[in-house]
Amino acid sequence: MSVFSAPDFRGHEQIVFVSEPASGLKAIIAIHSTRRGPSLGGCRFWAYPTEDAAIADALRLSRGMTYKSALAQLPLGGGKCVVLGGAAEVKTPDLLRALGKAIDRLGGRYITAEDIGVKPEDLRLVAEATPHVAGLPETSGDPSPMTALGVFAGIEAAVRHRLGAESVGGLTVAIQGLGAVGRSLAEQAHAAGARLVVADIRQDAVDAAVRELGAVPVPVDAIVAAEADVFAPCALGAILNDATIPSLRCAIVAGSANNQLARAEHGQALKGRDILYAPDYAINAGGIINIAHEDRRTGGYDRAGALVAVHRIGATLRDIFSRAEQEDRPTSEIADVMAEERLAEGPVT
Ligand SMILES: NC(=O)c1ccc[n+]([C@@H]2O[C@H](COP(=O)([O-])OP(=O)(O)OC[C@H]3O[C@@H](n4cnc5c(N)ncnc54)[C@H](O)[C@@H]3O)[C@@H](O)[C@H]2O)c1
Repeated sequence: MSVFSAPDFRGHEQIVFVSEPASGLKAIIAIHSTRRGPSLGGCRFWAYPTEDAAIADALRLSRGMTYKSALAQLPLGGGKCVVLGGAAEVKTPDLLRALGKAIDRLGGRYITAEDIGVKPEDLRLVAEATPHVAGLPETSGDPSPMTALGVFAGIEAAVRHRLGAESVGGLTVAIQGLGAVGRSLAEQAHAAGARLVVADIRQDAVDAAVRELGAVPVPVDAIVAAEADVFAPCALGAILNDATIPSLRCAIVAGSANNQLARAEHGQALKGRDILYAPDYAINAGGIINIAHEDRRTGGYDRAGALVAVHRIGATLRDIFSRAEQEDRPTSEIADVMAEERLAEGPVT
């Protein structure tokens, strides 16, 4: 594979291939942009079928982080680290320390955080070798509650824009996935008076939502087509695709899952069905906003500032929805345009 002509290569600043035979570490650190600040993005352990697949994932995810942070007006760029191998197979304390050394050699151009296969205690081991680690339990910690707050603020902006409703009270919200974000979102929507329809592959999570929040359960393969005002995907990527979009029975899609559109043109397909789509990286930015309120020099964390910034997700979505209407374009395209405009503005002053 030629990296420079790979479909996902979009002018990335730096791609580092890390190999440390003693611990078996093989990783790729992709820095898409440091134009607005140091690149930040989680570290993922994954058993990629090929090295090309790992490179493609690192390129795609790091660029996604640039757009997410730019749109959220954070002083951060986008990066990502992928470790080749599933966490259960390759993750050891020595490998995590070796990863920390590799991150340290980048001198702060890349800051790592949690992603698939990485737990807070793993980050502590990485942090033994480098200060360029975010989301440690003693600073901003688990980002999921802030992500869920941001998603709820985004849903409120969407129902106001699309349905003229002041809140989700009396509306139906269908939630796919009752994990860290989905469950917290369900609690907020329930507290605001919404009716809930839910699905999860974990029966215990469904039972708890039925019991505690009065949710109506539906089978896992029926949630996409559930009749609802809002469909909130909080489980899987690529959930909005050729097969699912024709079956949607909602006015709004607004949830936390990353990369919800299987392909970029599915934004147009949603528009064609008159469904308002809250672009994923705009509505699920609460976690990265939370991390951005850490002060890594002092080990401090500004929770009050993070809360204010997370609530601004509603305003960002209002801007996206209005501009999409004015320009008669899909909201997903407008989010990209706005992120690129902020990127062009350069560093945050
Ligand atoms: N946690 C965050 O701060 C954060 C930030 C940004 C984006 N996201 C994205 O939001 C989504 C949810 O994140 P999370 O942290 O809640 O993850 P999680 O692993 O805690 O929860 C995911 C839930 O989805 C369920 N699930 C899996 N497959 C399913 C299926 N086919 N149908 C229904 N349910 C299914 C799982 O059983 C689990 O309960 C993910 O796509 C994640 O990448 C999370």
